Amino acid sequence: TFRTTVIFFRKNSMTELSPYHEDQELDNNTSDNIHFRDILEQHISRRSLITKTASGAVALTLASTLTGCNDDDNNSSNNGGTPPTPVDPNKKPEKLNFSPVAKNLNDIVTVPEGYEATVLYALGDSINPAYGAWDDNNIPSGLSFEYRSGDCHDGMTFFGLNSSTQRYDANVSERGLLVMNHEYINPTFLHPKGPTKVDGRRPEDEVIREVNAHGVSVIEIKKDKTSQKVEVVKNSVFNRRITGSTVMDFAGAAAGSTLLATAYSPAARQTRGTHNNCGNGYTPWGTYLTTEENFIGYFARNKGDDLKRTKSEIIALNRYGLKEGSSSRYGWETVKAGVLSQDLYDRWNADVKAETAGNDYRNAPNTFGWMVEIDPFDGRQNPVKRTSLGRFAHEDCRTSRVIAGENLAFYMGDDSRGEYIYKFVSDAKWDPKDINGGYAAGDKYMNAGKLYVAKFNNDGTGQWIELAFGKNGLNQSNSVYPFSSQADVVTFARLAADAVGATKMDRPEWCAVNPENGEVYVTLTNNSNRGTSYPTDAANPRNYEDKYAGTKTNKGNVNGHIIRLRETADKTTAESFNWDIYLFGAEASGAANINLSGLTDNNDLSSPDGMWFDPRGVLWIQTDDGAYTDVTNCMMLAALPGQVGDGAKATTSNGTETLVGKKVTDETLRRFLVGPKECEITGVTMTPDYKAIFINVQHPGEDSADYASPSSNWPATQTNPSNKTARPRSATVVITRKDGGVIAG
Ligand code: FEO
Ligand code: CA
Ligand code: CA
Repeated sequence: TFRTTVIFFRKNSMTELSPYHEDQELDNNTSDNIHFRDILEQHISRRSLITKTASGAVALTLASTLTGCNDDDNNSSNNGGTPPTPVDPNKKPEKLNFSPVAKNLNDIVTVPEGYEATVLYALGDSINPAYGAWDDNNIPSGLSFEYRSGDCHDGMTFFGLNSSTQRYDANVSERGLLVMNHEYINPTFLHPKGPTKVDGRRPEDEVIREVNAHGVSVIEIKKDKTSQKVEVVKNSVFNRRITGSTVMDFAGAAAGSTLLATAYSPAARQTRGTHNNCGNGYTPWGTYLTTEENFIGYFARNKGDDLKRTKSEIIALNRYGLKEGSSSRYGWETVKAGVLSQDLYDRWNADVKAETAGNDYRNAPNTFGWMVEIDPFDGRQNPVKRTSLGRFAHEDCRTSRVIAGENLAFYMGDDSRGEYIYKFVSDAKWDPKDINGGYAAGDKYMNAGKLYVAKFNNDGTGQWIELAFGKNGLNQSNSVYPFSSQADVVTFARLAADAVGATKMDRPEWCAVNPENGEVYVTLTNNSNRGTSYPTDAANPRNYEDKYAGTKTNKGNVNGHIIRLRETADKTTAESFNWDIYLFGAEASGAANINLSGLTDNNDLSSPDGMWFDPRGVLWIQTDDGAYTDVTNCMMLAALPGQVGDGAKATTSNGTETLVGKKVTDETLRRFLVGPKECEITGVTMTPDYKAIFINVQHPGEDSADYASPSSNWPATQTNPSNKTARPRSATVVITRKDGGVIAG
């Protein structure tokens, strides 16, 4: 997540302060949704919860999921030579046995003994032989970034590539497409001397570089079967950058709606670009899902624009954080074009300027905030914004277990303080014949379906409330915002969720689905305002104080938690569920009513964010933290969780009752990796043989005062720890075992 509160632009030798503040987009839920304290306090009985949970029998039917999980005896990864370790890679390990990595503040990626971390793909690296290698002292042109790695690597998925079909193959580990997000940019190090402004305008080449450094990378990689060494195939025809300017199509409920009409596409069928791509997902048919998170901060809207807007438009703009007088994060709208069309820059100003929406960019903000589908194997067709899944600060999208004949569910978070957890359930039932069906399969499963938002009750039960025009009060007579169509409901999903009384959560980030039982895990990273503007409740139960570096005091839900839910009868179509809190982030030394999961020095963590169940059932948890970084850099842990209801009732330090999962041990939660200085660890995927795991290091050295005084020199430090001059760059890291064995096996 973007955490810098202000952006500095260099102007001649002066530094100009941009008035952009992240709170514009982080804290906009002023709805008066019912809080749990308004709901009748219900007695929480551990026994009743377990009984309910057990009634939905644990379904151990492991469907053939995207990244493998196959029980195919001919699995190529099991052939050819003696395996270095006597481990069945398709089996979940009984306990974690790698050596836990100690908390540290080193400027390097630290991995367990016997493991090796190698930098694979860093900001600016070329993906086309016609473009040279990155050079700190010779920053390449903005346009060249159409063929270079973007910045701020985030969500990421490995897709096996079948050499005969040239399509997706869940069993292939030696050749594949690695697809990843570039969430935003660190302008300080992206440009030769940091970002500049001349007479109030951003220079065009800088803005082209910034727009192109956003989006998604598709890169082919190959892995040596014996050494497990991974390399980027620089001349692959699959290598491709999708940027903040790439043409995209709309599909689903809002496609063609006047709400999405712009001068670029008055018929509301297309837009240009995707940005702030944070968490990710993948579909069972072999496509990538990228999420548009903090999109709203890219737009400016001047004072006086409200006078030209309807009451409903103003309510919707404010609810998404674009109040009149908002400045944009990077000032892209200020460019005077010389190389590209002026229209590419003008679109970042959302003011009403013309008679109709089809002649200006008043609706440009409505064309972002969606779930975007990309077929990495098909570079000819445009990516598709799947509008039926709703518009909000999308973070991650996890598909339910893939079971033939069952509806697919897609679980999603809206990462802002007090925002909601959603799911979309396809009308179509899964048919394995759709594997490799590309965008046509996307049309089948992601356009028609039901969008829901979650409500968590204090007693460990919960409801999915449908967001459908004409249902649950979502109609013209709604008192806050009159809804007139399903396009209206999905485009302003936050307002619809407010209206039906969804539960305000502590910043929902990634979602993960346990392959063993279908349970859904959601990271709730933290919420400094929990206990103040957002009262505590059983699902968001902590409000406490924690000292940072002996000086600052953090408040609210300082360290975050991971909630999990189990659908009633294990059906993706269920409209109710049971839940508990799998894990509370905390410092190991924290009081027992704060450190409720019993974390120790081997596994304590703060601000869980990235999270993924590998197909064996190992849960990987990553942090994007600012509360424990006085003690340790951000990290990744491995976990072997139980199930909803395996713990007990608990009371937090602020007296709120909750349901906490079984306490963890060193064998069920263990620190696997610690990143370099001032980074977040995000994005996690593996080859289907479990012998290579990929992670992203985002924004190392993000607190550097200036391009000339970097506070991190990673990734150069990974091979030369004494380097004190290199620019910090976000990068993908591949981790393998020195003996070529299975990761965490
Ligand atoms: Fe981009 Fe919510 O992290
Ligand atoms: Ca994130
Ligand atoms: Ca502390």
